[in-house]
Amino acid sequence: MAFSDETVSDDQQLLNARDHVCNQIFSFVNSMSLKCAMELGIFDIIHKHGKPITLSELIHELPINKQKSHGVDRLMRLLIHSKFFVKVSISNDDEKEGYWLTPASRLLVKEEPLSLEPYVAAMLDPLMVYPCNHLGEWFKNDTPTACVSAHGKPFWELSGNNPRLNQFFNEAMASDSRFVASVISRDCKHVFEGLESVVDVGGGIGIMAKFIGDAFPGLKCIVLDLPHVVAGLEGTDNLAFVGGDMFDFVPRANAVFLKRVLHDWNDEECVAILKKCKEAIPDKENGGKVILVEMVVVDCDDELETTETQYLCDIQMMTLTTGEERTEKQWKQLFSTAGFSSYKITPCLGIRAVIEIFP
Ligand SMILES: C[S@@+](CC[C@H](N)C(=O)[O-])C[C@H]1O[C@@H](n2cnc3c(N)ncnc32)[C@H](O)[C@@H]1O
Repeated sequence: MAFSDETVSDDQQLLNARDHVCNQIFSFVNSMSLKCAMELGIFDIIHKHGKPITLSELIHELPINKQKSHGVDRLMRLLIHSKFFVKVSISNDDEKEGYWLTPASRLLVKEEPLSLEPYVAAMLDPLMVYPCNHLGEWFKNDTPTACVSAHGKPFWELSGNNPRLNQFFNEAMASDSRFVASVISRDCKHVFEGLESVVDVGGGIGIMAKFIGDAFPGLKCIVLDLPHVVAGLEGTDNLAFVGGDMFDFVPRANAVFLKRVLHDWNDEECVAILKKCKEAIPDKENGGKVILVEMVVVDCDDELETTETQYLCDIQMMTLTTGEERTEKQWKQLFSTAGFSSYKITPCLGIRAVIEIFP
C-alpha cells in the first residue's frame, strides 16, 4: 500500500509515518505517567530506600490496591525510557535488578532542597492542562487566550479567584526560583554585585528576593506582585512586599528584576511594562538596569530536546496567556521600542538565560 503522493513512496515510509503519528498522539501519556509516579510517591520511596529497589520491594511500599501491582512494572518501563529511572544490577537473592533514580528524578524528590515537585504538580494540574483542549477553538474565536475559551477568565483573574490555583501556582514558581537562585548565586553573581536596591516585579511570594537579599548583604529588595499574591506576607529589614499592578507603578530601585514575567505578555504589554521599569531606575551612567530571566528561543530548527522544550513552552504561553517565548531578534526589538540602549545575554540557565538591559 502506498500514498499517491510520491513523498511517501514505499511501505516502510508509510509505516514510519503511521508510527510517528501514534507517537505524537500518545506523547501526553509521558506527562501523565510522570504525574502518576509523583502522586504515588515513587521518587520519594526510592530516595528513602537509599539504594536500588526491586519491583517487589517497590510494590510493597506503594500505597496502591495490590491487585493493580501488574501495572507498576509497566509504568516503570515507560519512565525508564523517558530517563526518570534506571534499572541496575543488584545482588538480591530473589531479584537481580532494581530501580534507581536519575539526575532528572532526583529533582522530583520532595525533600530535596531544589525539588521541582511543586512545579510538576502545578503544570500538570487539570486546571492548567484543560485550556490546551481549547487551542483549536481559540484560533477560530475572538477570545484573547485559550484559557479564556476554557475557563471563561484570563489566567491571572482565574488564579486571583481560586485560592487552590493561587497557592499551587505560587509554590510552583517558588520552587523554580529556588532552583534559579542556586544557579545565579554560583554562575551569575556579577548581575547583582554593586547594587544597593532591586525591585522584583511579578516576584510572586518573594523566594527569589529572599535569596538575593541573603546572598548580597546590604542589598534592599522590594517584591511587587498582585495584591492577592502578596497578601499576608511579612517583610524583613531588607525585604518589603508591595501589592499593586506593574502596568500602573513600579517602585524605584537601582535595578528591576523580572523572572518569567515578560513571557506572559504580548509585545505591546511588554513595552508598557519595560517603560514603567525604565522610569523606576537610574540612567545607565548611574548603574540602572533591568534584569530578566527568560528564554531566548533558538532561531534554527534543530533536533535538540532543548529546542523542542522551548517550542512546547511557547505554545503553553500561547494557551494560558497573551505572551510568548521570544528569539533574540524579538527581544532586541522590544528593548529598543521601550527605549533601552543595549543589552547583554548570559546563557547560564539551560533553556533560559539572564538578560541585562541598560537604559
Ligand atoms: C509566571 S509568574 C513568575 C513569578 C516569579 N517572577 C517567578 O519566576 O517565580 C508571573 C508573576 O507575575 C505576577 N503578575 C501578573 N500580573 C501582574 C501585574 N499586573 N502586576 C504585578 N504582578 C503581576 C503574577 O502574580 C505572578 O506572580
